[in-house]
Amino acid sequence: MLRVSCPPKLNLFLRVVARRPDGYHELETLFQSVSGGDLLMGEATSAPRLDLVCDDPDLPVDGSNLVLRAAELLRREFPERSHLGAQLELLKRTPVGAGMGGGSVDGAAALVLLNDLWHLGMDAAGLHRLAADLGSDPPFFLQGGAAVGRGRGEVLEPVESANLWLVLVKPSLAISTPWAFRQWRAERCGGLSLDQFLPIWRRGCPREIALSLRNDLEPGVAVETPVIAAAREWLLGAGALGARMTGSGSVVFGIAEDRDHASRIAAVGSAPGSVWITRTLNAAEAALVPTPGAPEVATA
Ligand code: C5P
Repeated sequence: MLRVSCPPKLNLFLRVVARRPDGYHELETLFQSVSGGDLLMGEATSAPRLDLVCDDPDLPVDGSNLVLRAAELLRREFPERSHLGAQLELLKRTPVGAGMGGGSVDGAAALVLLNDLWHLGMDAAGLHRLAADLGSDPPFFLQGGAAVGRGRGEVLEPVESANLWLVLVKPSLAISTPWAFRQWRAERCGGLSLDQFLPIWRRGCPREIALSLRNDLEPGVAVETPVIAAAREWLLGAGALGARMTGSGSVVFGIAEDRDHASRIAAVGSAPGSVWITRTLNAAEAALVPTPGAPEVATA
């Protein structure tokens, strides 16, 4: 039995450059791993079956789940090992349709876990190629920490993580990523360029970073779903230094001065959604490392 922790991400900067002929959008984004997240466990089976169970009854555990898609990609990569099977279990903690890459990190974690469990010996470049087949976000999770993402988000350049405490608000609605991209209009967007943002990011001052956040998917999503603006206003009213939606939403994050400040923000009542605190993780802390054995207590 192996297990892998699956820390999710926030996008602290997301500029949509243009719509591409293939239907995707060219991005400039800053991914940052944050604490918490799902736990994926697995063991090899003698039968060539792939089984996935999940403690969240709302999450499909069929071939649409990125964990099983990752397993299928690996099996296709090694057709001579058609006997490979696995029993997988996912403890789901990151909300679905939140813009935190919860499904994507599960998929990336499945690649890493099964590469180990099945003794496939795939190197980092091979895993990155399969991760990019899974989606735009999974490649980021193979490196974790902080990274600039270009292209669809899969062309990555590592940068130093900032040391931040954040408060997250998750409105009850889940947002579909393709829908969020369809709401994008260049004329609604503005803010710093990536070249202006990166020196601010590298200085690492929470207050400065909070004033420089950008997400070009937020205006279009917020027009259709007023709760996004309400979540942002709630965070700012509660004292956050700055607030933005992450990715395609629906989570909105607020930046705090430090841990105590984050706790004080989170304790303010009447948020338009569930509220929790997270902190940024560097690449070593966010690494997807298969560890032997089941957890003694399921992590929350
Ligand atoms: O890559 P992924 O499967 O996560 O993308 C889901 C959908 O989000 C795509 O089919 C596309 O509609 C949209 N998307 C996009 N541009 C990106 C990433 C995703 O238009 N860079």
